[in-house]
Amino acid sequence: MKQTAAAVLDASRKGRQGAITILRDHPVKEPKEDEVLVKVLLRPIHPVDIKTLSLTYPGFDSRYLPAVVGSEGVGKVARNGVRASKFAEGMRVVAVPWPTGTANGGTWQQYVSVPEANLVAVPDAVPDEAAAQFFLNPATAYGFLEVLQVQELLDVGADAVICTEDEDVVSRVQDITGGELAYGAVDPVAGAMTRTLAAATRAGGTVYVYGSLGGAESTVALMDLVYRGVTLKGFWLFPWLKSLSNEQRAEVLQQLMRLVAEGVVAPHSGKRFPLEQAGEAVQASQAPGRASEGKFFLEG
Ligand SMILES: NC(=O)c1ccc[n+]([C@@H]2O[C@H](COP(=O)([O-])OP(=O)(O)OC[C@H]3O[C@@H](n4cnc5c(N)ncnc54)[C@H](OP(=O)(O)O)[C@@H]3O)[C@@H](O)[C@H]2O)c1
Repeated sequence: MKQTAAAVLDASRKGRQGAITILRDHPVKEPKEDEVLVKVLLRPIHPVDIKTLSLTYPGFDSRYLPAVVGSEGVGKVARNGVRASKFAEGMRVVAVPWPTGTANGGTWQQYVSVPEANLVAVPDAVPDEAAAQFFLNPATAYGFLEVLQVQELLDVGADAVICTEDEDVVSRVQDITGGELAYGAVDPVAGAMTRTLAAATRAGGTVYVYGSLGGAESTVALMDLVYRGVTLKGFWLFPWLKSLSNEQRAEVLQQLMRLVAEGVVAPHSGKRFPLEQAGEAVQASQAPGRASEGKFFLEG
């Protein structure tokens, strides 16, 4: 097969609404010798994909425009490159086409070629919706735990939920921790949220910002940064993964798949849209409150 459908990020309309063009005659990139061609069945819509569509994701190399976005997905092995032999044709696998912004493109196409080392076999017990999103967020959480190296965080678990709109975060954290404040914080929101989280972190603790759902900058009070010694750091999954050896990276991926298969990591399911409706699906995924419906997916 030479041609396929794909949601393509169109160079001429970059950054604008409707930047996605659906092409039914998108060329299939044949697998290089150490790559595997995967027929993608289901892929999630992640914030990173949305950022790529608006060309604001630093991990995307716009030299490859027009490009196919899509940071992960589940599918079946269609064809092996000449030196790839670990996965039999027809096997269910997750495809992780990182680093993003390469000539092969991402998972928002029917067929994608990815390095064999980036594939993980999916056990029968793992449904497509869990497999399709097994990588990005679980690996980030895993990376945090490795980087933080704070055993207490592993032991603490999630015991309390605070609604930032209705409650005073610092006093609630004080109540929950017996006045000690938090060991540290991980912040996917940024903007003013970083300031709040720094104030809710105990002296000497660390706030890791890893997302920009609430703004492209973070603010922090000098009272916390200077006088209480709270450290502000960023975390980005891809450099962390790159810092691992091939064997370590493969082990992380295997371990994450085991955690998903055992139900320890249980991604939310959500609404499915046909790949051809990628534009509508992206818009719907941006609606406030969407997360209560789970992740949205592109199918087919
Ligand atoms: N640094 C890294 O390597 C890395 C890796 C993975 C993910 N991330 C980042 O992590 C963040 C979360 O990713 P995800 O896949 O979990 O996203 P998601 O599935 O889209 O969920 C985002 C959640 O955040 C809420 N939200 C959106 N804007 C908010 C705001 N301004 N203040 C408070 N809450 C807000 C949403 O609530 P509603 O639905 O109610 O609006 C939703 O519950 C994203 O920024 C993503 O880019 C970073």
